Amino acid sequence: MKIFVDSANLRDIEDALQRGFASGITTNPSILSREDRRDVGTHMREIIDLLQRYDSHIPLSIELFTVDPDEMLRQADQFLSEFGHYKNLYIKVPIGWNELRVIHHIRREGGKVNCTCCMSYNQAIMAADAGAEFVSLFWGRIRDTGYDAASVVRSVHQSFREWNSPSQIIVGSIRQMVDINEAIQAGADIVTVPPKFFPALCSHPKTDEAVQQFMRDFREWSPEPGPREPVSVSGVLSNR
Ligand code: E4P
Repeated sequence: MKIFVDSANLRDIEDALQRGFASGITTNPSILSREDRRDVGTHMREIIDLLQRYDSHIPLSIELFTVDPDEMLRQADQFLSEFGHYKNLYIKVPIGWNELRVIHHIRREGGKVNCTCCMSYNQAIMAADAGAEFVSLFWGRIRDTGYDAASVVRSVHQSFREWNSPSQIIVGSIRQMVDINEAIQAGADIVTVPPKFFPALCSHPKTDEAVQQFMRDFREWSPEPGPREPVSVSGVLSNR
């Protein structure tokens, strides 16, 4: 199971790269619109430069920002020529009848596809059959319609496994911490997570309690620093 960063924010992406847990980056037009207004090509190239600075070759998804059938094909070609030097580039194409043609086209041109906005079992199957390497199921939005997102993910996972499908399930549209755990348990290969959840994902009040106790006990035992001053472990050791 892998975690992707669902963000186009350079600071958030760098924070994740510095901590080594990010296995991929996903963006979409709405996510990009949260950044300062600028040329999308410039912004994507900066994300690619950042990944390369960290010697990271993880999957990076950029989504088409048109629904016109001919324009989608043209834009896909443009993404391939502008960003195709990044070997792990995935073009996000929403699921749909005209969109299947775009998926097939990208695959024929040697590109990789993340088929996005899938809300149902049948959409996910069509995406995989058309050749999408990643099939993105939208957990929060499925639940908004009153359906059980876990059962959709579970069914798709089971079918992909039975058919030895090379496609992988990305679960996106994460709204709460519990969505991440449930998506993993339902069979997601990847969960793409908004950065605001990451610090909380590795926190626990009992961890804080344990660490504070260790620091307190050590401080009381150590003859070196001032009695109640909070000190770093390296500070204490360097005084010896
Ligand atoms: C990720 O690939 C999706 O684009 C994203 O998670 C969608 O999230 P939303 O449903 O909150 O817009």
